[in-house]
Amino acid sequence: MTLSKFNLLLNTYMNCKRHSWAILIVCLSQMTYSCKTADSGKDDIDVRADKMLARMTLDEKIGQMSQLNISYFADSDQLKIAVRDGRCGSLLNFFGAEQVNEIQRIAVEESRLGIPLIIGRDVIHGYRTIFPIPLGMAASWNPEIVKKAFRISAIEASSQGIKWTFAPMIDITWDPRWGRIAEGCGEDPVLASAMARAMVEGIQGDSLTDPTTLAACAKHYVGYGFAEAGRDYNTTYISEPVLRNVVLKPFKAAKEAGALTFMSAFNDLNGVPTSANEFTLRQILRKEWGFDGFVVSDWGSVTELVNHGYATDEKDAAAKAINAGVEMEMATTSYFDNIKALLNEKKITQEQVDDAVRDILRVKYRLGLFENPYVDTEAQKKMLDPSFLEHARTVARQSTVMLKNDNRTLPLKADKISSVAVIGPLADAPRDQLGTWCFDGLPENSITPLTAIRDLLGDKKVNYVEGLEYSRDKKTDKFKAALAAAGRSDVILFFGGEEWVLSGEGQSRGEINLPGAQSELISELAKTGKPLVIVVMAGRPLAIGDELKESDAVLYAWHGGTMAGPALADLIFGKESPSGKLPVTFVKGSGQIPFYYYRNNTGRPASDKSWTPMDSIPVEDQQSSLGYKSFHLDYGYTPLLPFGFGLSYTTFSYSDLRLSSQVMGANGSITVRANVTNSGTYDADEIVQLYIRDRVGSITRPIKELKGFRRITLKQGETADVEFTLTGNDLAFFNGKETLTEPGEFDVWVGPNSDEGLHSDFIIK
Ligand code: NOJ
Repeated sequence: MTLSKFNLLLNTYMNCKRHSWAILIVCLSQMTYSCKTADSGKDDIDVRADKMLARMTLDEKIGQMSQLNISYFADSDQLKIAVRDGRCGSLLNFFGAEQVNEIQRIAVEESRLGIPLIIGRDVIHGYRTIFPIPLGMAASWNPEIVKKAFRISAIEASSQGIKWTFAPMIDITWDPRWGRIAEGCGEDPVLASAMARAMVEGIQGDSLTDPTTLAACAKHYVGYGFAEAGRDYNTTYISEPVLRNVVLKPFKAAKEAGALTFMSAFNDLNGVPTSANEFTLRQILRKEWGFDGFVVSDWGSVTELVNHGYATDEKDAAAKAINAGVEMEMATTSYFDNIKALLNEKKITQEQVDDAVRDILRVKYRLGLFENPYVDTEAQKKMLDPSFLEHARTVARQSTVMLKNDNRTLPLKADKISSVAVIGPLADAPRDQLGTWCFDGLPENSITPLTAIRDLLGDKKVNYVEGLEYSRDKKTDKFKAALAAAGRSDVILFFGGEEWVLSGEGQSRGEINLPGAQSELISELAKTGKPLVIVVMAGRPLAIGDELKESDAVLYAWHGGTMAGPALADLIFGKESPSGKLPVTFVKGSGQIPFYYYRNNTGRPASDKSWTPMDSIPVEDQQSSLGYKSFHLDYGYTPLLPFGFGLSYTTFSYSDLRLSSQVMGANGSITVRANVTNSGTYDADEIVQLYIRDRVGSITRPIKELKGFRRITLKQGETADVEFTLTGNDLAFFNGKETLTEPGEFDVWVGPNSDEGLHSDFIIK
């Protein structure tokens, strides 16, 4: 017991109006009690949580279930009073080592039971050192570097008193119009699950009680990425097979990696909003998966049950959310205001409240908050450590995907080039390159592509004209200067894309082309005949078919974070080869959405022979001439670029696909191996991908499914024997009634993307 705690209890006793022996005994028993439990750390966490629960008043319990945003309090005195009175168990958007230490001191030393606060904040892809947006990180297909990025984020954030991040965001989406595609890991459940595991492991570190550990929060549970038309917060309808076979997969991986908390989402799922959804929260998360951390709502998602038309008023909303298992309410106060009445009216049970509080306390005990509630202010010195920046540069490099490189336009040779034209609204946009959801990254720490290229080549060789002031700019008055700069340079580097604010929460777009007059400027630049390299920095996969055609080389760099500039310079000038691969299918235009690679087949799949381009249809043609296949007259039947696609400065050849057996039991496994040779002239990484197809199922099965991937490094001429293990469990799926591995024939491919690869087959008996 701390001295101040002792003093507090003594004061309580001294201040009591009736100095009876009874009160003295209560106070003394509290002192001994807290020595044995809350402070000693000897007892098992469940026992400690139960004992603490037994001592709590209903008001204190309600306080633990309330997470208040700092703006809720009129002033800092109000905040202190609430914390001292145990009316608030968690704060959001309150940080800074000294501030947190002070409020934590009040919680621990001045509140009746000394329960520490848990301080939460969105640390999504870095705290001060900003990494590429999560969609970009997923494009690295490298869980190890992603784990390290999240570790670094946790080290920086914990130095500010943050103990809980609302990450990882692992919503699968099929819709690039949805602004929050930037925050997730793309369309594939296997890739997203690998990323989810890595992110949780990075956030939570090797030991939960380490001062640099944060609690992870798997969000948004669940289905939020399926918002109709990609319009944020919109209704979702997801069949149970898609829910279980796709959408839930990364959440299960996060749970298995030990994520301490989950966040319920904003969306209505099949008619029941996810913040009141007993099926997903109680049945799946708790009963089937055995999750024993706690669930926080999203910001206001409890009171929004009223807007959804699922609750009559905020009181009813609180009842429905609590019944469904949402244990802490974020930002709004429907729990705070109504729990007592709801208990009296028997709309919720005391057991539900106790379960919620126990789960919250357990997380606080697990994090070691009772033993060590304070921030080590020395740790602040670790912000933007050179090793962190170097890692951010590595992640930004590995996240960048090369989409085109005709005539080996790239890499450029710094010593042979006499001048480059650097053009475009994203060439020197320090805030934009940080991307969405970065509260604490500072533009002044960003190194932009322009700065990095100038550093490398010297100012004289760089002819910089932005051409457009920002990505949505439609003014063409600077085109002339841009074309002049292009005219006096050996090569044009155009940096375009989207400002950070065009993706992220609430930032959905209907058309996903390059905004503003960028396409026009690119067309003008292409006409100069100079080699044209386009670097796209964006929060979503844009429909850039025309720009792909007009350019000689394209790098897709997402929003690459603090070190995006140096990372891009490394790639453009050949310090390293691009090696990222697409974590989403690139569509030709919004009209093609959704277009994901693991779609089911139709009864009438199109092929090159059977699709009819719109312009080839004779006027007044007969109805029968269109082929009756599944395609768009204007887009055809293929996307712009397939999932898993990405080019390198070298070439890789695949050979000798071998299966340990062509037959496997439903509970068995086989190994799948292939040789991958670096057949080009550059040392580089390749991401080797394994896909399968379950030819016939009790429900229809996807045309391809990723089941494994490996990032390998090969020197020129080197060959790797890449091995995957495929288990019956990997092939299991939910068929509407049960999850099982069905006997039958399977295709298997090992290749560089979802469209190409060596093929074989096997049978499950
Ligand atoms: C709303 C967002 O949906 C969620 O992702 C975020 O964590 C919370 N706001 C807190 O900022």
